[in-house]
Amino acid sequence: KKVLVINGPNLNLLGTREKDIYGEETLEDIAIKMNTEAIKLNVDLSFIQTNHEGEIIDKIHEAKGRIDTIIINPGAYTHYSIAIRDAIKAVEIPAIELHLSNIHAREEFRSKSVIAPVCVGQICGFGSLGYILALNAAVMI
Ligand code: DQA
Repeated sequence: KKVLVINGPNLNLLGTREKDIYGEETLEDIAIKMNTEAIKLNVDLSFIQTNHEGEIIDKIHEAKGRIDTIIINPGAYTHYSIAIRDAIKAVEIPAIELHLSNIHAREEFRSKSVIAPVCVGQICGFGSLGYILALNAAVMI
């Protein structure tokens, strides 16, 4: 299976950013762990991060016909990017929404995801373990 992991804005700052919420690991640490899991699961994994909404949309479009499942942590775009939502819907690739933190246990504005309704499901609150859980889910759906 081919899986694309898209990390949105500010996730490049993991390891230094709000460590009490997002943990000590860097995105690079997470990418390494995910690669190890991908080898075990026989997954062809692409792992990207961008701070730009349009680039996320371009990557989703490019995935059409090439990628079996998308795992996406849209960062703050989760809460308001109808454009990312529409892109996921348009390409008809099964998507899994992922967050390090439990977005339902934080500020009220974070509990609303405009992305979730176009995804198969949402994984949140498990920190970096969520990336491993999402990859396992990706091969099973
Ligand atoms: C996040 C949660 C979002 O609310 C926040 O804007 C992020 C990270 C998470 O992984 O917990 O940037 O997506």
